[in-house]
Amino acid sequence: MFIGHVEITGKAALAPMAGVADRAFRRICADHGAACVVGEMVSSKGLTYGDRKSAELLELDADIRPAAIQLFGDDPATMARAAVQAMDYKPDWIDINMGCPAPKIAGNHCGSALMREPELCRQIVQAVKEAVAVPVTAKIRKGYSKNEVNAVEVALACEAGGADAITVHGRTRDQMYAPPVDWDIIRQVKEAVKVPVIGNGDVVDALSAAAMYEQTGCDLVMVGRGALGAPWVFSQIEAYLVHGRLLPTPTMAQRMTVLLRQVELMIAYKGERVAMLEARKHAAWYMNGLRGAAAFRREAGTLSSMEELAGLCAQLVLAEERGEL
Ligand SMILES: Cc1cc2nc3c(=O)[nH]c(=O)nc-3n(C[C@H](O)[C@H](O)[C@H](O)COP(=O)(O)O)c2cc1C
Repeated sequence: MFIGHVEITGKAALAPMAGVADRAFRRICADHGAACVVGEMVSSKGLTYGDRKSAELLELDADIRPAAIQLFGDDPATMARAAVQAMDYKPDWIDINMGCPAPKIAGNHCGSALMREPELCRQIVQAVKEAVAVPVTAKIRKGYSKNEVNAVEVALACEAGGADAITVHGRTRDQMYAPPVDWDIIRQVKEAVKVPVIGNGDVVDALSAAAMYEQTGCDLVMVGRGALGAPWVFSQIEAYLVHGRLLPTPTMAQRMTVLLRQVELMIAYKGERVAMLEARKHAAWYMNGLRGAAAFRREAGTLSSMEELAGLCAQLVLAEERGEL
């Protein structure tokens, strides 16, 4: 599939996840076959006011492509200026956040609050599109609340503004991340617009990816939480959809090798102190679904050095060998 002129050859994209899908995790997911990656959302206001933290979030690696930068904001002119600034980081396209449910974003008239104003969505897309030469996409939700389901209307508005693709997360803002996810709304958007549609919500493995493609007709699936502690989900989806092969879950030794590499990268990018604090949640995710891992998960919550992490990983490998997990 193509987003504008940018070709996406893989079968599953990594979702933008603020505070989680950082440079290190994006590299790990790309190594495991993510079709493309999207950076953590960046405030258009922060960026245009010269906030250093916003600029740090924009960093993209030249060898992890295609890669998009995601901006949030509610003012078309500010979004356009921010997009121009973001171009210094050479994104393959600019994605516009119209789905974030967090009170400090939606309560500020940004993210999912835009779903209530399709005309403003159109204006934002158009302003950004006119400002930059790369494709522009929008990431929307099903609607704001169960009484305000309007993904089709918002998608059409974004398309009218010039959007090159639309990502649809099949939940309302009010649902935040709670079940159920509505894949039918993704199908409805796909039937309504001409541009490619990226389906998102609860794709967690090869079979759910196949089901998402089949039930919605989407052009690409996007995986968020299903990749946390399980970046190999991308190669599993690829192997199944391209070759019909269901790959086994990696062994504990393989999992721990990936976790260690991810944390090494986090340290290289952020320094050990910040990296180890953030590594705690990632380490716990790598133990998801393991019965008997509660004590290890607690230990992950106190990690403060690479040495401690290596020790924890070794214990987990031993525990699996002994059949304790
Ligand atoms: C921790 C976390 C951070 C997120 N940050 C962003 C973000 O910055 N921008 C965005 O568009 N969506 C963000 N999302 C939403 C995801 O991109 C995705 O739409 C959602 O998790 C549903 O997909 P999933 O069921 O595969 O996780 C975030 C989700 C999580 C769990």
